[in-house]
Amino acid sequence: MSDNTWSGRFAEPVSDLVKRYTASVFFDQRMAAQDIRGSLAHARMLARQRIISPSDLADIERGMAQIAGEIERGEFAWSLDAEDVHLNIEKRLTALIGDAGKRLHTGRSRNDQVATDIRLWLRDAIDAIGELLRDYQAALLDLAEQHADTPMPGFTHLQVAQPVTFGHHLLAYVEMAQRDRERMTDVRRRINRLPLGAAALAGTTFPIDRDFVARELGFEAVCENSLDAVSDRDFAIEFCAAASLLMMHVSRFSEELILWMSPRVGFIDLADRFCTGSSIMPQKKNPDVPELARGKTGRTYGNLMALLTLMKGQPLAYNKDNQEDKEPLFDTADTVIDTLRIFTDMVAGIQVKATAMAAALKQGYATATDLADYLVKKGLPFRDAHEAVARAVRAAETKGCDLADLSLEELRGFSAFIGDDVGAVLTVAGSLAARDHVGGTAPARVRAAIARARQRP
Ligand code: ARG
Repeated sequence: MSDNTWSGRFAEPVSDLVKRYTASVFFDQRMAAQDIRGSLAHARMLARQRIISPSDLADIERGMAQIAGEIERGEFAWSLDAEDVHLNIEKRLTALIGDAGKRLHTGRSRNDQVATDIRLWLRDAIDAIGELLRDYQAALLDLAEQHADTPMPGFTHLQVAQPVTFGHHLLAYVEMAQRDRERMTDVRRRINRLPLGAAALAGTTFPIDRDFVARELGFEAVCENSLDAVSDRDFAIEFCAAASLLMMHVSRFSEELILWMSPRVGFIDLADRFCTGSSIMPQKKNPDVPELARGKTGRTYGNLMALLTLMKGQPLAYNKDNQEDKEPLFDTADTVIDTLRIFTDMVAGIQVKATAMAAALKQGYATATDLADYLVKKGLPFRDAHEAVARAVRAAETKGCDLADLSLEELRGFSAFIGDDVGAVLTVAGSLAARDHVGGTAPARVRAAIARARQRP
């Protein structure tokens, strides 16, 4: 075998710079386990189809077991000269077992090999992300359960709108994570197809059995078209899109955590292990982890754009451009995995300051809609009720008090429909309990929603 596997037809070697420029071994070696797995399935198929001998297969299995051990123990000598993970492993295999190693690549190309490796790798990453999303949801649900009755202001336009419970607010993020899980599962279905057999682009002249390899590797089916099989990276883009949405959700939550932790708001405190101090201001405790998550969301969007742009100009079939698919993909998976791990732990340690939440509710006339609804139930058209309550709010504002602090007489000045049963309507507890339907913030409904969420598969 010539120096770097394919250089037989070349008159001069590539320069060191070009070698480094074209190599991928320093980032694609993380697919080593998947590469070996794919090679073993391919070799077993070749032996079964009598394309290689049983003793070749035995040698390949023995050699690969040794290589897997070397990689695991950190003893494998990765070499730039061998360009990528595939050639590094093949070269070592041949050094260990001789000719049988050189027969492994029969009926295969690095083009279908790399497409298979990425799919195997991403399938594992998605399974890990699915588990982590469940853990994250479980942490949110635990906190929501503790605060199914804790009132806080719900906001629109960042202005106090209506009372909600903190538990209800957290359940919104549980729903987002649920959709993220569904999207990941959906992406996984399209990942789970076997490219091997496509060879370089047109298929192979050997009597291969693609269905056997697909079964060996746990793929649901084979990729139907050989040209598409080696050049399709839709699944990587879809994953990055689903990951971007996931991170967007985490980023929105981060924004709220940062805001809530500001002393101006003071709704929560984060455990010290998720915060850092300032090198100059001794009093500072900064919410670094949510801030970084908000920042890292940008890089996952960037990775999505990188992959979309990578693919837009590529004619069929494989082009070397595709080698650039791995770093954005790995980076996205790493970012999502680290972020979910850390958020699960951070959510469990959120300290809720219920008194500050209750105090904020006193300041924004949060039960004004309840008063309007009350008037409607007494027979006033909603628009008239809205107007009456708006005038009541203005009066309370002038007096510097809450709606509930106005006397019954004062309130009746805005509408004769107001009776002495209005008191309960103006309380936060009354407002919460009245939103008593599926998806509403009544504490009983929040508890039921938590129970249902825990039942979901
Ligand atoms: N390292 C390459 C990649 O990541 C493997 C496939 C190379 N194929 C080729 N014909 N040069 O895409």
